[in-house]
Amino acid sequence: MDTTASDLRIEHRDGVALGIGEERPRLSWTVAPGTVQAAYEIAWLVTSPDGTVLDQGSVAAEDDARVLVPWPAAPLPARARAEVRVRVRDADGAWGAWSPEAVAERALGAADWRARLVGPATEAEGGDRRPPLLRTDFTVPGTEVRAARLHLTAHGLVRAEVNGRRTTEDTLLPGWTPYQDRLRVHVHDVTALVRPGANAIGLALADGWFRGRFGFEGGTSDIYGTHVGALVQLEVVTDAGTTVVASDGSWRTAPGPLDHASLYDGERYDARREPAGWSEPGFDDASWDAVTVHELDTATLCAPDGPPVRCTEELHPVNVTADGDGWLVDYGQNHAGRPRLTLPALPAGTVVTVRHAEVLQDGTLCTRPLREAPSVDEVVSAGEPLVWEPDFTIHGYRYAHISGIPAAPTPGAVVSRVLHTDMRRIGWFECSDPELNRLHENVRWSLKSNFVDIPTDCPQRDERLGWTGDIQAFAPTAAFLYDVQGMLVDWLRTLTSEQERLGHVPVYVPWIPGGAFWRPWQDIAGWGDAATLVPLALHQASGDAGILARQYSSAKGWVDHVEGLAGEGRVWDEGLQLGDWLDPTAPPENPMEAVTDPHLVATAYFARSAAAVSEMATVLGRAEDAARYAALAAEVRTAFVARYRVDAAGEQDPSADTQTAYALAIAFDLVTDEDARRRIGDRLAQLVRESGYTVATGFAGTPLVTWALSATGHLDEAYGLLQSHEAPSWLSTIDRGATTIWERWDSMLASGDVNPGDMTSFNHYALGSVADWMHRVVGGLAPAEPGYRRLRVAPRPGGTLTRATVRHLTPYGPAKVAWTLDDAALTVAFEVPAGTSADVDIPGAAPAVVGPGRHEVVVDRDDMDRALAATAPLPA
Ligand code: BGC
Repeated sequence: MDTTASDLRIEHRDGVALGIGEERPRLSWTVAPGTVQAAYEIAWLVTSPDGTVLDQGSVAAEDDARVLVPWPAAPLPARARAEVRVRVRDADGAWGAWSPEAVAERALGAADWRARLVGPATEAEGGDRRPPLLRTDFTVPGTEVRAARLHLTAHGLVRAEVNGRRTTEDTLLPGWTPYQDRLRVHVHDVTALVRPGANAIGLALADGWFRGRFGFEGGTSDIYGTHVGALVQLEVVTDAGTTVVASDGSWRTAPGPLDHASLYDGERYDARREPAGWSEPGFDDASWDAVTVHELDTATLCAPDGPPVRCTEELHPVNVTADGDGWLVDYGQNHAGRPRLTLPALPAGTVVTVRHAEVLQDGTLCTRPLREAPSVDEVVSAGEPLVWEPDFTIHGYRYAHISGIPAAPTPGAVVSRVLHTDMRRIGWFECSDPELNRLHENVRWSLKSNFVDIPTDCPQRDERLGWTGDIQAFAPTAAFLYDVQGMLVDWLRTLTSEQERLGHVPVYVPWIPGGAFWRPWQDIAGWGDAATLVPLALHQASGDAGILARQYSSAKGWVDHVEGLAGEGRVWDEGLQLGDWLDPTAPPENPMEAVTDPHLVATAYFARSAAAVSEMATVLGRAEDAARYAALAAEVRTAFVARYRVDAAGEQDPSADTQTAYALAIAFDLVTDEDARRRIGDRLAQLVRESGYTVATGFAGTPLVTWALSATGHLDEAYGLLQSHEAPSWLSTIDRGATTIWERWDSMLASGDVNPGDMTSFNHYALGSVADWMHRVVGGLAPAEPGYRRLRVAPRPGGTLTRATVRHLTPYGPAKVAWTLDDAALTVAFEVPAGTSADVDIPGAAPAVVGPGRHEVVVDRDDMDRALAATAPLPA
C-alpha cells in the first residue's frame, strides 16, 4: 500500500509559487484511496534569498485534515522561500514516505521597494503613441549567480528581457485590475539569465487596458492614466552578496519596433526598426531619452491570486485556401489567441497582414461582429527571415486571412497560439453521444477563450469585459472543469473594490465607461448576484471558507441594497432589468425583450441571493445573520408566489407561465408547497413538450431548466431538450458548425447567414452552463458537502445514452462515476477518494453511504426504469 502523500499544493496554486501574498499560506495534499490518514507531519525549511535558514521544523498532528491546512510555522517574511513536505501515517501505524516538496516564495513588502515606476514622459491624451522600449545596463559582482528574482509590474502591459532573453512565457502582464487600487506584481526566476559581470534588462511596454482604447462605441482611451511605465526590481544573490537593480530615473527609453499595439486593434511590428541587441549589455543607448519617473503608491502593489495568461497549445491550420489577395486559413476551432508567423526573407518593407474572424460569410471572413475591434496584425519585413508573434494583443477567431506572403503557407508557418489563464484542468465528461461530447468540448473552449485574466463575456468584439451575469451563470460549470479558484478569487476582490467605490455592483467588473447605455448605478438581477453566487460556487467546489469570509460583506452589501430597492413588499418590480436576457424570442435588435417578466426574474434572484447570504453566514458561524437572511429569503419567496402566481401553473399572466419562470421557481426553491411544486414541474414539462423540445430560455432560465425538470421527475423532457437538434437548442448549434458556445441561440441562422444583430458573438460561455447538469445529473458526480468531503453519486441515465463517464479531481483526489446501460442492466462503477464518503443514489438500488475506494453497483434494467421517475437533486 502506498501511503505517500501526493499533490502537495500551496493555497490554490500549482508548481513553484513565486511572489505569493499570504504570510501564512495554507497547504493541501491527497492520499491514495486505500490510505486512512490517522496523522500527518509537515516539515518546512524557510530560507532567505541568500540561503540563510530562517526557520526549520516539523509538526505532527493526529488529524485526518488535508485540505487547506493552516500554515504550521512562523509567518513568512518578505522574500522568504518555503520548502514544504508532508507525510502521513496510516491507521495501521506506518508512516509513508515524505512527499515531493512544494515551494513558495513570499512577495516583497511595500517597504521593500526601491524601484520607481518609469516610462516615457506623459503623453497627450489619445496621442500617436509608439509602444516604447526601456533599458538599463548593470553589473553583477562575484563569480557565481545563486539566485535572481525579477519583480515586475507596469501601468500598461509589459514584457521583460534579460540579456536578450525573455524572462517568462507568461503574457499580457500584469493583467487587468483597477490599477488605482490593486496592481499585481509578477515574480520571475531569472537565475539562469543573469551572469557575473555585465548584464542588461530590456522592457517592452504597451497601452493594454491601462490607457489603450477599450470599451463601447469606439472605446475610451486613457482609462487609468495618460502614461505607461514599468516598475522593476531585480534582486541577485551571488557569492559576493546581494545586488539590487531597481528601475529609476537613470533608465533609458526610445520608441520600439511596434507602430501600435492594442488589445482590440492588433499589433503592427516593423522589423526594420528593431534595435538589434537592445536588451543586451553594451548596447549603445546614447540616442535614447532619459525616462520619466511616474507616481505610484507602493501600497497598491499586490500578489496575483491566480495563474498568469500563457499559451497552452498551438493550433495548426486544418485548411488553407486562396482568397482574394491572400490565403484563408481555418484552424478548425474557435478560440482566443494570436498568430505566430514563420516568414521567409521577403523584400524589405513587405507588409504581411493577418486578419481574424470567428466565422465566414460567403466564403470569406465575417468581421462585422467584431464591431470596433478590427483585430489585425501586421508585420513589416526587414528583408530577413523572421519568426514573429504579437505580444500585446489577443483575438477571438477560428479563421485568419493572411496576405503579403508569396505562396500558400505551410501549416507550421502560420500557427495559432491558444492563450488563456493557465488553470489546471480538474473535470472531464464523456458519453455515448458524440454530439453531446462535442457540446461539452465547446463549453470547455468557451471557458478557455473567456478566462483571460478576468472572466469575460467574449474574446473577439469590442467588449471582452468582466460581465457579472455571464460568470454568475457559468461559475459552477467552470469550477468543475478547471481550478478557477485563484483567478476568480482575484476577480472577486475587484468586484468588491468596485462595489465599494461605486456603491453598486456594476454589470461588469472592472468598471470602465459604459458608452451611451451602461451606468455604474444600474442594479441588475442575475448580474449583481455574482456577488453572492460566485463565492458560493467557489466554496462548493473547494470547501474554502476563506473565500466566503472575504466576500461576505460584499455579498451582504448586494442583498441589503436589493432589499432597499424592493422595499417592504419584497418584490423587486422597478427599474431597468435585463431579465431573461437573450431568450430565443428576443429580436436581433433587442436582447432584453424576453417572454418572461423581467421583474419576476429579479425577485427570484433576490430570494436566491438572500438565501445565499444565509448559507454563507451559517458556514461562517454568524447565526444571527443566518437567521435574518433566511427569514428575508422566506418573505421574498412568499411575495414572489403571491405576485406572480407561478403556482397557478398556466392560469396566471403569460409572462409568468414560461419555462424560465418555472425553472427559477423550482431550482431556487421558491415554491415550497409539495403539491404546487409538482404542478409547476408538470407545467414546465408540458411547455417543453409543446415547444417540440426547443429551448425557450435565456441567460436566467438556461442554467436552471434541466435541473428544474429532473428535480420534478421529468428526466425525459430534460434529456429531450439536451439532445434536441430542433433549433433553438444546444445541438442545433453543432449542426450549424459551432465549435464554441454561442451568445445567441441563433448567432448563426439556419440559412447559414450570421445573425444581423450587432451583438452576435460565437464565443460566450453562459448558455454552456448546461454542462453543470451533464456533470452532476447525467454523469452523476457532485459534492454533497462543499469541497467534496462527501460526494454524491447519483447518475440519471436517459435519452439515447448507453454510457457516460464523469471525472473530477476533488480536493481529496480523483473521483469518477462511469455507467453503462444495456437491455438487461445498469452498471455503475465509481471511485471515492481517500478521506471522503459518498451518498450513493442509483435508480433502482437501495440508497447507501460508502467509503473510499472503487465500487460497482449493478441494477436490473426494469428496476432502474421503474425508479427513474423519482427526482434528481437540485443544483447546489
Ligand atoms: C455582453 C453580455 C452581457 C450583456 C449584458 C453583452 O453585450 O456580451 O454577455 O452579459 O451585454 O447586457
